[in-house]
Amino acid sequence: MARVIGGIGTSHIPQVGVAFDRKLQETPEWKPFFDGYVPAQQWLERTRPDVAIVIYNDHGADLFIDKMPTFAVGVADAYPPGDEGWGPRPLPDAQGDPDLSWHIVESLVESEFDPMIAQELAVDHGFLVPMNLLWPNEWPVRVVPIAINVIQHPVPTAARCWKLGKALRAAIDAYPKDEKVVVIGTGGMSHQLHGERVGFLSRTFDNYFLDKLESDPQELTRITRRDYMDRAGAEAVELIMWLAMRGALDARVRRVHRFYMTPVSLSSAGLIVLEN
Ligand code: DHB
Ligand code: FE
Repeated sequence: MARVIGGIGTSHIPQVGVAFDRKLQETPEWKPFFDGYVPAQQWLERTRPDVAIVIYNDHGADLFIDKMPTFAVGVADAYPPGDEGWGPRPLPDAQGDPDLSWHIVESLVESEFDPMIAQELAVDHGFLVPMNLLWPNEWPVRVVPIAINVIQHPVPTAARCWKLGKALRAAIDAYPKDEKVVVIGTGGMSHQLHGERVGFLSRTFDNYFLDKLESDPQELTRITRRDYMDRAGAEAVELIMWLAMRGALDARVRRVHRFYMTPVSLSSAGLIVLEN
């Protein structure tokens, strides 16, 4: 039977992808940030998951406001890097797991979640930056990308994302193959990229979120989308994707690692590794 071994929440700042491609990890500016991911890399080396379910959002590389699914599940053999305006990054395609993807789609629909089914999907920094940070060399996992709309309002509620995580967990638990699964939820912590409050950050909200994600995630599901945006910046509504990850974990988890730094680019950077 498939088993969820744990989950990872992480921000997905695009500037980190630029630093990665330019090999700036050891420079004084970037080293403290990249070092924050080493304990997560070590946990993944120790636990060796077979599959990563990556819950992320596309910022317009493949899914955009012309046609925006609230939830989409990739069922492809492979996921190429998308073009975010500077050409695709020099990265390999992420290898898919169509059997597991289709099983998840079937199971979600039985649970009354009705995702868009993506037979082709190019992935952007929401997916690729966490992959770079967690597996800086090769990607030793197959992936199932699950995209959530956090771009075109109305975006789903935090509570809905939590329930998606529960439905996802039921799907994985019912998968007959013997696979170790890690669930990754990506999304910026406090940040706002536009308007009068451009550059707004909140250490207080970010640390409250990291505390509660571990100990009382359901409190976070009761925060409205407007409150996420008011308290942590408009684009911090991306944090609802971390709740989909947390909903797929056990009620009680063991924290393996937590890392926080602000500012990084125009955003706060956070990471948490939770083990079932
Ligand atoms: C930025 C973009 C993001 O999608 C994000 O989550 C955080 C930061 C940025 O452009 O700096
Ligand atoms: Fe983002």
